[in-house]
Amino acid sequence: MRRYLITSALPYVNGLPHLGHLIGCHLPADVYARYLREQGKTVLFIDGTDEHGTPSEVGAAKEGMELEPYCKKYHDLHAEMYRGFNLSFDYFGRTSSEQNKEMVYRIFKALDQNGLIAEKTTKQVYSPDDNRFLPDSYVIGTCPFCGYERAKGDQCENCTKVLDPVDLIHPRSVLSGSDRIEIRETKHLFLQLPKLEKDLEKWIETKKGIWPDIAYSIAKKWLKEGLKERGITRDLKWGFPVPKEGFENKVFYVWFDAPIGYIGITKQWSDEKPDERNWEDWWLNTDDVYHTEFMGKDNIPYHTISFPATLRGTGEKWTEVSFLKGMNYLNFAGGKFSKSAHRGIFLDDALKEFPADYWRYWLMANAPESDDSNFSFDQFAATINKDLNDVLGNFVNRVLKMTVNNFGSVVPNKGEVTDEERNLYLQMDSLIKSYAEYMDRLEFRKALSVLREIWTSGNNYIAKTEPWKVVKVNKEYAGTILNTALNLIRLYAVLSAPIMPETAQKMLSLFDASLPMLWPTQKAQSELSTIQEGTTFHLIDPLFQKIMPDRITELKIRYKEES
Ligand code: 2FM
Ligand code: ZN
Repeated sequence: MRRYLITSALPYVNGLPHLGHLIGCHLPADVYARYLREQGKTVLFIDGTDEHGTPSEVGAAKEGMELEPYCKKYHDLHAEMYRGFNLSFDYFGRTSSEQNKEMVYRIFKALDQNGLIAEKTTKQVYSPDDNRFLPDSYVIGTCPFCGYERAKGDQCENCTKVLDPVDLIHPRSVLSGSDRIEIRETKHLFLQLPKLEKDLEKWIETKKGIWPDIAYSIAKKWLKEGLKERGITRDLKWGFPVPKEGFENKVFYVWFDAPIGYIGITKQWSDEKPDERNWEDWWLNTDDVYHTEFMGKDNIPYHTISFPATLRGTGEKWTEVSFLKGMNYLNFAGGKFSKSAHRGIFLDDALKEFPADYWRYWLMANAPESDDSNFSFDQFAATINKDLNDVLGNFVNRVLKMTVNNFGSVVPNKGEVTDEERNLYLQMDSLIKSYAEYMDRLEFRKALSVLREIWTSGNNYIAKTEPWKVVKVNKEYAGTILNTALNLIRLYAVLSAPIMPETAQKMLSLFDASLPMLWPTQKAQSELSTIQEGTTFHLIDPLFQKIMPDRITELKIRYKEES
């Protein structure tokens, strides 16, 4: 039996996450994890904060804090916000943990022993006005490949090319803005990617047609250009010190220790309950672990090339990525969400405005999968009002009320079924199958559009059978219709749970708080007979509230959404 390891790209700890980060990896990973767990699969879902590197140094300096308490503060804030969105991590750890240090040293030593680490004197940007070497991402300039004027020295976010700061045209310091830039010599360690190229190429070829095109083609593009050796150390204070003579004053590059963080965090998880959990069972010499990685598109090169090469170079059999879900970007009113400019909607604010499920549903229904997508309050309100309030919420409300009015708070008996019910069964069977197929392929927008159809079928069934009329002439059949509709509410709960876990729980516990949240395994005919006749239920407040025009206007002003 396959076991599922799910990792979501580890967010930089500095600053707070916004909706773009949420949909960029954590939320789709959570939906997938919940979906698999509902099917009874064994899942380990790992996430955590990426804490080393200059962003943390700069963030801590800005707040006048030492790095350790600064990272702890933001790690806790991230964790709290993700909890607010009900992200169901098995462990939310930290790349600065002792466990990660142990993994980084172990992997580094194996690479070194295998002759894959070389020392080189390099030229690096030094800023006399800042009185320090500048890390790659703190040098900006014009991208030599696409001409983008604010390309960072480590990667151009416009064309995704990985860069060296010395490649930039008109480089300048992000810290002081000074363009008095010197190039000084410094010694660093380099991972010999060219030596691993052949092996990597063979492996990536096996992913053709398996990985999504975006992942496979980015990896191929890199290989075609020829792999270059990659610096894995930096002249910084904050990070894991390099355990090699002559390099003790340097630290590992954040992109060296961050992906190893998936393993280090798994060890944090297993160290909490060493009698029950074993990180090695997931990461070393496994044949049954299927590893799905979620990330923004700019992370793809690291996850298809440098991290797999790092693991392969050790000569040990580490669990590799089986499937990669690379997301495009979510924009805000036509522009970018921005952490540094605090533009867009941040997770703490989002939760103050609406319940987590509103956001989860909207984001997944509009996930930037094949292209970038755009958030606007108008679209958000339209979707919540229509899909959640009018379609799902009204269905639940009407069915509960009609039943209470005509039968009391009891699930009526199911008598003989007619062609209407038989058609509904057929429709449900085919829709559930298609929904699951899209979820299995991680095509979330398509999956959610089928989920919408599933909800709509319930409304159509009620509209067609008209139980409010039938009850006057044939109470027994009205009971059958409402019994079927109440069973639909349970089925909707289990099908919607990966996306809207709180709403689903509310719907399920209408009937019996101990009903299991299990994915349907039988035909709709049986699934729609799960709730026993005579079961009592209680009325609940409407599941959703409409978002009115005044509120939309107010939100647009508060979040500076230019129309
Ligand atoms: O892009 C980012 O937010 C990085 N912190 C992702 C790291 S993913 C993994 F390698 F840790
Ligand atoms: Zn570029």
